Amino acid sequence: MDALRPRNGYGLPSRRSTPSPGDRRSLAQAGTDLFRSGLDADLDVNVAKRGGPEPGRVIVVSNRVGLPSEGKARAGGLEVVMRSFIKRNRGIWFGWSGQIAQRGDEHVRTVERGGVTYITTDLNRADYQEYYNGFANRMLWPILHYRLDLVEFSNRDMGGYLRVNEKFADILHRFIKPDDVIWVQDYHLMPLAKALRERGHRNRIGFFLHIPFPPPEVLATLPKHERSIYPLCHYDLVGFQTEGDANNFAKYLIHQFRVPSRDGRTFNVNNRTVRVGAFPVGVETAEFERLARRSARIADVAEVQASIADRPMIIGVDRLDYSKGLDVRMRAYEHFLGTHSHWRGKVTYLQITPRSRSEIKEYADMERRVRETVGRVNGHYGEAAWTPIRYVNRTYSRTLLAGLYRCSRVCLVTPLRDGMNLVAKEYVAAQAPENPGALVLSQFAGAAVECSSALLVNPYDQEAVAAAIDQALSMPLDERKARHRDMITKLAANDIKDWGERFLLALAPQPQSGLRLVQQAGA
Ligand code: F6P
Repeated sequence: MDALRPRNGYGLPSRRSTPSPGDRRSLAQAGTDLFRSGLDADLDVNVAKRGGPEPGRVIVVSNRVGLPSEGKARAGGLEVVMRSFIKRNRGIWFGWSGQIAQRGDEHVRTVERGGVTYITTDLNRADYQEYYNGFANRMLWPILHYRLDLVEFSNRDMGGYLRVNEKFADILHRFIKPDDVIWVQDYHLMPLAKALRERGHRNRIGFFLHIPFPPPEVLATLPKHERSIYPLCHYDLVGFQTEGDANNFAKYLIHQFRVPSRDGRTFNVNNRTVRVGAFPVGVETAEFERLARRSARIADVAEVQASIADRPMIIGVDRLDYSKGLDVRMRAYEHFLGTHSHWRGKVTYLQITPRSRSEIKEYADMERRVRETVGRVNGHYGEAAWTPIRYVNRTYSRTLLAGLYRCSRVCLVTPLRDGMNLVAKEYVAAQAPENPGALVLSQFAGAAVECSSALLVNPYDQEAVAAAIDQALSMPLDERKARHRDMITKLAANDIKDWGERFLLALAPQPQSGLRLVQQAGA
């Protein structure tokens, strides 16, 4: 039956019941395009040019929505790419404004900027505490990062999490059109599709998790996870950063809920099909290299270089978050200075660490531990003319970071667990191919799949990390070039620019349905 229904421009079933003759022609064409190309960034434009139906909009939903005017220079690569993806698809970006309002005074605002419609809502203080600080960041965040020791479960916070998801669904309900495709981002909004289905929406709804998804044995420790995590089954497509994470979700459904599946990727839940896949987030590989090449010459980068004289620079760029393993990394660097004394005074480690989620106790504890270690290392090994670790709690522009990456001999990316880690990928992309730096990367970051030619380390093993720092600093040029070549080839093949379209196409019904659609519509 599904195959007989008319489709919108993405090949998704339309809610209009009878296609016009004009629609029939273009629908057949759209189906052919989908089946043939698999990845056509301009699909909607093509369909519109053929005089076919207007495709449905894409509505991206995420916890936080960053309007372009706010700290433009600071927007991360993914945010920039998401904006241009939404613009191409005449889309809407919906989520929290970042503002906390009095209960009953939470405003919903619509802003048009640069071809994108942003719809934001404020949260009230209870929402912010229970949904964001509480359930999302003191329960889901640690558990999804395998940190059972840090989980602080509370029924009240879980209630707040479910309540804000209902609130988001209530607002979305007002402006969703039947042909819209909805793409929900990240762990804050796992039950959102269920809330939308309960309001009668039959749209295609996809979900992408930006952070890790652990094995079911870990997830099962979260009280009442059937209310927060299992509702992912109400999406049509659930995407993860790695195959390993997708497998863990499949095992979760099979082992915890006995959901049947023939292939471990397609599941039948309450007569609906849920598909599961890996869609690793990439970077704008070639563009970032160009940016880094230009930025390496700007005054701010030159100033940093002049300040370290001719010493090679090690760089680390991480949000202040315990998942990044900063304190463990600093201790490994301390061990490196202790065991590789010939490097003392000869290398500078710049750690850029913007603060985040500072109201949460575990983050404050982490900050204290990092400061103590930095103070100890600098006090013990520092000289009047040399500081072993430069530690800054600032957010720098993408431009400056790109330039700093390019002139750093080594990049340390050693999270204890990370969904992907785009710093690792951006560092590789920023390098000059004729003289690239070396990447020391945690084996527990999703980026390790594509960056397998980095020096992969177990971040918990301080001696191994110290040895990897020494190896990276001493690595011959030929070896650096060979490792870089391998990684950049893989990164170029997975450019972030295609990511949104790839996910959308997977969210469309299976190619097999597309073929039937062509036959029916042409009959
Ligand atoms: O990596 C997950 C993530 O939620 C990102 O989407 C976000 O940029 C980052 O963590 C910071 O999170 P927050 O919005 O809580 O500051």
